[in-house]
Amino acid sequence: MIHHRRIANTLVLSLILFFTVAVRTNVIAQNGQSLFNANCASCHNPHRDLTGPALYKVEERWPDKKKLYAWIRNNQEVIKSGDPYANELYLKWNKVAMNLFPQLTDPEIDAILAYVNSVPDPKAAAAAAATQGGGGTSGGGGSDNTLLFGILTLILAVVAMILLQVNANLKKLSDEREGLPALEPIPFWRNRAYIALVAIAFFCVGGYFTVKGAIGLGRNKNYQPEQPIYYSHKVHAGVNQISCLYCHTGAQEGKHANIPSLNVCMNCHMAINEYTGTEKIYKENNVEVNGTAEIQKLYEYAGYDPSVSKIWDPTKAKPVEWIQIHNLPDHVYFNHSQHVKAGQVACQTCHGEIQKMDEVYQFSDLSMGWCINCHRESKVQFKENGFYSIYQKFQHDLNSGAMDSTKGVTVEQIGGTECMKCHY
Ligand code: HEC
Ligand code: HEC
Ligand code: HEC
Ligand code: HEC
Ligand code: HEC
Ligand code: HEC
Repeated sequence: MIHHRRIANTLVLSLILFFTVAVRTNVIAQNGQSLFNANCASCHNPHRDLTGPALYKVEERWPDKKKLYAWIRNNQEVIKSGDPYANELYLKWNKVAMNLFPQLTDPEIDAILAYVNSVPDPKAAAAAAATQGGGGTSGGGGSDNTLLFGILTLILAVVAMILLQVNANLKKLSDEREGLPALEPIPFWRNRAYIALVAIAFFCVGGYFTVKGAIGLGRNKNYQPEQPIYYSHKVHAGVNQISCLYCHTGAQEGKHANIPSLNVCMNCHMAINEYTGTEKIYKENNVEVNGTAEIQKLYEYAGYDPSVSKIWDPTKAKPVEWIQIHNLPDHVYFNHSQHVKAGQVACQTCHGEIQKMDEVYQFSDLSMGWCINCHRESKVQFKENGFYSIYQKFQHDLNSGAMDSTKGVTVEQIGGTECMKCHY
């Protein structure tokens, strides 16, 4: 028995190991694009020279693959080693130093190069499109099931009516056969059962919409305005894995998360002046968006023309009028750092999967019930959190066992449902 169990255990372990390795290589292969965009795209483009040379098929310029890896990890060392090609290249690019990437592994570099070589040349693509006569397809987009359910409900209602009618007729027939006197036929609009049914239906539907409308006054769940620049969170925070805090710095430290200024955008977009992502981007009405044209809009706000100068003058910029989506009434106090830093609540818990949204919409209804429910259910993160050293009593009770540490302390217990905590 024991022997069998040991064999089974070894089998399970090796299976787990196998799958972890398999999944890991797969993840790395998919990450070539994000690695490139996060580390290299500010200086390199596959097909155009930017701060650094175009990287398409760069392996062909480096006969020794090991040296290429070494260059990407630490180009300064390769130059110092006296490699003739590296030194020539360095001089040709006016001794602009490339960054060091000691953290990149060989498979990761392979993934980056594989991605670079998979990007089609826009000029060749444009020529091919011209000869073919163009003609793109705009597919994608999920379908809405509401209509389907509506039709199904209608059909079921009609079937129910017919069955009711059939039932009545059968009853009449059987009554006749048994010689019972036939009742005076009642037209269906005076039939009490029908009238009651219709009245109940009206009451339910009307009541539902009235109550919903009254509660929702001033609330904007699912609000999704069209922004002056089509800026996709999916492209930035999803595909390219830019951290939320890179742009919304305030969420960690302050009350407001803040919308980033043009400086933040231009950190990257001085170099990235076209959208070549494989992920097609769509507006809500399924019209495809031209990302390069949207970056051009960014340049108009920034007062920057890459064809005239490589230097950006921030004084020429005018601010982008982003349309505010989330807005609590003035009598409510809400603080981001309290939740993000002290409470360690993930952005997605309150804002939904922003990294999968092209255009942001309001995910939660921001009602008082929403805040309170979460405060009743959420545990306070006491462990290794300096902020909570002020709650000495709770710490003491948890440690001494006077309080059940598996249940923990809810936000409600530290006063998170007291009116004046949220209301001025
Ligand atoms: C700060 C800008 C910068 C960044 C970021 C950068 N590079 Fe470079 N890269 C350069 C420059 C400039 C050169 C040209 C040589 C020189 O001047 O050092 C170069 C050269 C290269 C070369 C040799 C090109 C050739 O023609 O042989 C490769 C390969 C390369 N970079 C890969 C990468 C990869 C991969 C990344 C990201 C992990 C990256 N670089 C990030 C600026 C950069
Ligand atoms: C590269 C910069 C950038 C990154 C990274 C980024 N955002 Fe944003 N975010 C913006 C800009 C610009 C807006 C305003 C335009 C809009 O609403 O789309 C915005 C708007 C928002 C809004 C709506 C604000 C309102 O008006 O109420 C939320 C919520 C938000 N971001 C959350 C996130 C989260 C969560 C992440 C990480 C998953 C994230 N953002 C990553 C730039 C960024
Ligand atoms: C950390 C770098 C970085 C920052 C900061 C950044 N972007 Fe981008 N942006 C990118 C990358 C990478 C792409 C995708 C390029 C590609 O795939 O060809 C992109 C693509 C875009 C596009 C085209 C796709 C789309 O989303 O419509 C627009 C427009 C854009 N960015 C606007 C902005 C604006 C506005 C800001 C400032 C709020 C900003 N970006 C900040 C890196 C950045
Ligand atoms: C506990 C829920 C919660 C969490 C967690 C949360 N937010 Fe918010 N967020 C809100 C609420 C509520 C508002 C509306 C605030 C207002 O109107 O004063 C908001 C507003 C915003 C706005 C609009 C600008 C502003 O500051 O009012 C941005 C941008 C934003 N959040 C980004 C983020 C990011 C990024 C994270 C994660 C680092 C995050 N939020 C985490 C609830 C949350
Ligand atoms: C997803 C869960 C969640 C939601 C939704 C949420 N909170 Fe919180 N809130 C927390 C957690 C966890 C803490 C504990 C962090 C702390 O005390 O530092 C907290 C703490 C607070 C505190 C401090 C309480 C105290 O006693 O110190 C205030 C004030 C607060 N939240 C206001 C709000 C408001 C207003 C809303 C709705 C607009 C809201 N919260 C929505 C999870 C949430
Ligand atoms: C965790 C935070 C929180 C606590 C605690 C809290 N409220 Fe609120 N309250 C809110 C939010 C958020 C709104 C705004 C709701 C909206 O816009 O629909 C609100 C709205 C209100 C309103 C306006 C009516 C409405 O629904 O818009 C009143 C009145 C109110 N609260 C009273 C109270 C009283 C009394 C208490 C104490 C028993 C209390 N609140 C505790 C978050 C809180």
